[in-house]
Amino acid sequence: MTRTVPVGLGDRAYEVVIGRGLLDTAGARIAPFLKNGRAAIVSDETVWALHGPRLTAALEAAGIACPAVIVPPGEQTKSFAGLADLSDRLLALELDRGDLIVAFGGGVVGDLAGFAAAIYKRGVDFVQIPTTLLAQVDSSVGGKTAIDTPRGKNLIGAFHQPRLVLADLDVLATLPAREMRAGYAEVIKYGLLGDFAFFEWLEAHAGQVLSREPEALAHAVARSVEMKAEIVIEDEKEAGRRALLNLGHTFGHALEAETGYGEALLHGEAVAAGSALAFRFSASQGLCEAQDARRAEAAIAAAGLPTRMSEVTAKPFDARTLVRHMGQDKKAEGGRLTFILARALGDAFVAKNVDAAAVTAFLQTEGAL
Ligand code: NAD
Ligand code: GLY
Repeated sequence: MTRTVPVGLGDRAYEVVIGRGLLDTAGARIAPFLKNGRAAIVSDETVWALHGPRLTAALEAAGIACPAVIVPPGEQTKSFAGLADLSDRLLALELDRGDLIVAFGGGVVGDLAGFAAAIYKRGVDFVQIPTTLLAQVDSSVGGKTAIDTPRGKNLIGAFHQPRLVLADLDVLATLPAREMRAGYAEVIKYGLLGDFAFFEWLEAHAGQVLSREPEALAHAVARSVEMKAEIVIEDEKEAGRRALLNLGHTFGHALEAETGYGEALLHGEAVAAGSALAFRFSASQGLCEAQDARRAEAAIAAAGLPTRMSEVTAKPFDARTLVRHMGQDKKAEGGRLTFILARALGDAFVAKNVDAAAVTAFLQTEGAL
């Protein structure tokens, strides 16, 4: 069964289509958005080797010319150098403003190709075909596109909404289990931040989702996308409520910064540990019940995800260094720390003006030096 979630953003409205076998129908679904019958596919080497032939065949069968630009996999591709290379290769294809870019991959490809689409010849349309669980439930929806710089992640970017998102659950069959778990961290985030009933459903169905049981997976992706769409419609440019989607990210980014944004700690794993830390910090400040923090932690741990800094590194982090990373986080305004904290499971809120000394002391109780 195919599920469609509308993202009602006026003249930038689009649909997120979730289901099985969608790659094979991509030609007919993308054709209405083409002016010249041409779409350039951007993908990474891994995704392209596994699923490229199916997508190409589907687009060609619909009469769509689809040259491909294949980039190396990995976060380092989301850089100025990666953007320059991709832009140059799109220019070499003589892609013009009536053509479309198809971002076919995980969050790295989606963020990079989306940003390239935002600035290529002052902006071309693009379609997201996300191939990781993280990209299907989060990064492909909502129009945030960006690259990293040596000063931090996602610091240069643009809001550029896709024209369509096709989340084909079948492509997740080839996703390594660790990447599946990392994406699940973003799924559980939705339950934790705003839907207690979904959180309870995930407590009961984590195993089915992670083993890619079709009905459970479809429900987890669709409910996550519904929640993201609802928040993005209300607050597209993150003036307020959209910041809730950053639950676990302020702690998580600090851990990622210390571990080098790579294989040592995947983004989703950092979000998992960060969410557990955010709940425990909330409990330590008397904002939520300790039993809620314990239950959040248990649900994250049950998915095989880290909840403690000691699971991320054998050598303790330095609490002040972590807090310094948080201060540089782009959500920090005027040196004050902003966190997404919790009143209860399914009830997160934006906390501005959080005292850095309280965070430092909390991290020390958690084992940081
Ligand atoms: P990723 O794109 O690096 O993909 C992870 C790995 O899985 C890569 O090696 C990739 O080649 C491989 N892969 C992808 N699909 C596969 C498949 N179907 N089968 C086998 N292997 C596959 O990482 P990600 O976790 O998808 O995305 C992380 C990025 O997303 C980060 O850069 C993060 O900043 C960004 N992000 C953006 C937003 C947003 O709103 N724009 C939200 C969350 C995360
Ligand atoms: N992943 C956070 C957001 O899209 O706002």
